[in-house]
Amino acid sequence: MRYSPKIWNGVRGFFVTGTDTGVGKTEVAARLAGYFARKGFKVAVMKPVATGVKRTCSDAWILKRAACSDEPLNRINPVALRLPLAPFAAERLEKKKINLDIVWRGFEKLKSDSDIVIVEGIGGLMVPLKKSGGKVFYVRDMILKMKMPVILVARPELGTINHTLMTIGMLRAKGIKIAGVIFNHARRVKKDLAVRTNPSIVEELSGVKVLGIMDYNKDRGKRRIRWLRKIKP
Ligand SMILES: Nc1ncnc2c1ncn2[C@@H]1O[C@H](COP(=O)(O)OP(=O)(O)OP(=O)(O)O)[C@@H](O)[C@H]1O
Ligand SMILES: [Mg+2]
Repeated sequence: MRYSPKIWNGVRGFFVTGTDTGVGKTEVAARLAGYFARKGFKVAVMKPVATGVKRTCSDAWILKRAACSDEPLNRINPVALRLPLAPFAAERLEKKKINLDIVWRGFEKLKSDSDIVIVEGIGGLMVPLKKSGGKVFYVRDMILKMKMPVILVARPELGTINHTLMTIGMLRAKGIKIAGVIFNHARRVKKDLAVRTNPSIVEELSGVKVLGIMDYNKDRGKRRIRWLRKIKP
């Protein structure tokens, strides 16, 4: 089966989220961006909110390079906080206001200037971004607002069935479209029984397609990754 990003409310692209931080969202988003760029599409990339940023956001750099984007870094990553915390917590401790309006404006501009948009979330789905008017705004609300289908990046080892199914459940509860799951080996793990059986179990129990499995290091830097062939521009 091939999956085309020509989806939701006119936005052509994907929102790459994860079951956790450090699972390989940037790795997967960069692969996608590079793939579409090589196909000749004008690819816009975005890391709307980042924390733990010292000078510039490294995820934004990686995405910019992969997409061959000439957008300025502050449009790719409009909100950067210094403390390595959930944005909601970093905003409080840094006494700095997170302005999501610049995210929405930047997103609209990137959307209108490009063929395909690839957005990387921050951490997992229920990472709190900020509180305003008594309501907490989570990454999931950002996906809803951007109206993009999701690619979910998960880790491969024992425990991932729980995290992946929970995330899928939370996406479905809001009617967010899920393009598929990628199991990424962000670190070297033993390919034990759990690692070998997790993808098919997740697919069977959730009905969400597993687009692919990225091995530790093996697929890095490669232009051709098997799962990318399942994504149709
Ligand atoms: N397939 C892989 N092989 C080797 N290293 C990998 C692989 N995938 C990810 N990594 C490494 O693992 C680390 C975490 O990956 P990545 O930065 O893509 O995760 P993330 O989900 O984007 O994290 P964050 O929540 O901080 O944005 C990085 O150092 C990355 O280079
Ligand atoms: Mg990242």
